[in-house]
Amino acid sequence: MTKDIQALVFDAYGTLFDVHSVTRLADARFPGRGAALSQAWRVKQLEYTWLRSLMGRYDDFNAVTAEALDWALESLGLAATAADRADLRQAYRELSLFPEVRGALERLAEGRTLAILSNGHPEMLDAVVDHNELRVHFGERVLSVHEVGVFKPDPRVYALATAHLGLAPEAIGFVSSNGWDAAGAKSFGFRAYWVNRGKAPVERLGSPPDRVVADLGELAGLLA
Ligand code: LAC
Repeated sequence: MTKDIQALVFDAYGTLFDVHSVTRLADARFPGRGAALSQAWRVKQLEYTWLRSLMGRYDDFNAVTAEALDWALESLGLAATAADRADLRQAYRELSLFPEVRGALERLAEGRTLAILSNGHPEMLDAVVDHNELRVHFGERVLSVHEVGVFKPDPRVYALATAHLGLAPEAIGFVSSNGWDAAGAKSFGFRAYWVNRGKAPVERLGSPPDRVVADLGELAGLLA
């Protein structure tokens, strides 16, 4: 069955790139508070995407990420300078890869097309892809919700992958560490691989993933 999968489409933030790699800088600026800041920032960033979509509004992910940072800083009572904010936003363009990603992508690319489909603004996605030298795997197939002006898990977002790759949903495997994103992809019709990095329960959204793996290395073994 996995032989029918002609392309793998990856979520970016949290799946390939470790959003909590900003913790080191955050902790340097706000000693002892870096992890709390990173957590609050990420949670609020995602909430703001969902809420905007429900309101029928769209602002790009750069703006959403900056506003979520401001909220997170204030919620924790952290007095940040303009330079602190700019540096933290810049850190988002230079996030680290999870350690197994590079080797796993090399294995997963054999005989398949690889793509990214993310909430990120194209320019911030390009920055983090190039920072981590992943262009070799993804080429121009770094797809952004910006093209449709709505965030995941709206089905119009997942339809970008079928349109750009010229494949039916069932020929695409969608890979995400975000359980709600895997659920959205499965609901759209993709084969969904949930990378359960956080050892969380499966989301109760009516469209459970086809397979659950601990990391991308395990996925590469599964699809070998
Ligand atoms: C993304 C968010 C979900 O990369 O992390 O689309």
